[in-house]
Amino acid sequence: MSQGEIVGAAIVSHHPGLFQTEEFRIAAGDGRDSDLIAGFRRLREKIDVSGAETLVLFDTHWFTTGCHLVDAGAHYEGVFISDEMPWYLHGQKYRYDGDPVLAHICAEVASEREVVARAIDEPTLPRHYATINVVNALVRAEQVMSVGSCQTAATENYLEMGAVIGEAIKRSGRKVVLLASGALSHKFRNINAVPPHPRIYHPDNVSSDFNRESDYRAIALLEQGRHKDILRQFDQEYRRLPWEAWGAHYLQMIGALGGSDCTAKGTALSEYENAHGTGNIHIWFDVSQRDS
Ligand SMILES: [Fe+2]
Repeated sequence: MSQGEIVGAAIVSHHPGLFQTEEFRIAAGDGRDSDLIAGFRRLREKIDVSGAETLVLFDTHWFTTGCHLVDAGAHYEGVFISDEMPWYLHGQKYRYDGDPVLAHICAEVASEREVVARAIDEPTLPRHYATINVVNALVRAEQVMSVGSCQTAATENYLEMGAVIGEAIKRSGRKVVLLASGALSHKFRNINAVPPHPRIYHPDNVSSDFNRESDYRAIALLEQGRHKDILRQFDQEYRRLPWEAWGAHYLQMIGALGGSDCTAKGTALSEYENAHGTGNIHIWFDVSQRDS
């Protein structure tokens, strides 16, 4: 078996507004749809070219405690309803295959490295919309392995788990695209707040000028492949905003790509947009450029 490889990576938004009807989305956008919708098509073209067999999806809604988890289920199908906003996100049919082989290799590598992680194969394990929405927007025939966001992990622990996944991908023989499913700054607006801009997706509606400017600086660094600089200031800046799930999606993705040694340059595949105060964008990383 030839060595597996990571053939692409992306930060991808999953916010529920994108999974409403086109008519609703255009009305919310003051006459123009969210550019994240067109961005899903641009991202799908990148995945097509990559030849990926498996998508490793870092799920910022699957919070775990005391252990990193990777999903080892073989197949999932059903109809998703969000218990967070059931009036808004419901009736989402899904059907996809997991990648239990890769998940079990992740557990083996974690054990070798004494990283606290397990592969969990439990057919009744709940789904989360950070996975389901991205599956429905992007996935065709690929297998999908979701990875949790351990809420007792520090920044370096996410990087370690990402490195475990990177090694497991090599051993698996798989061609893999990594999908970091979540937002950058992730502070919601108050329940009674009135967005200042009529186009709901407009960056002016992000929670604060400080968060929006921080996101813009991060996007510039991501485009330049300056992951080392982002990691250096992660705890002082980005974990405090915070990025969604304290950045578990980005940190595990970049850990799999070599951590601070990764220089993969990002390409924005969408405009930067607000969702209920959070900062959202799709960014593709050309992993052929990385030094690691
Ligand atoms: Fe989210």
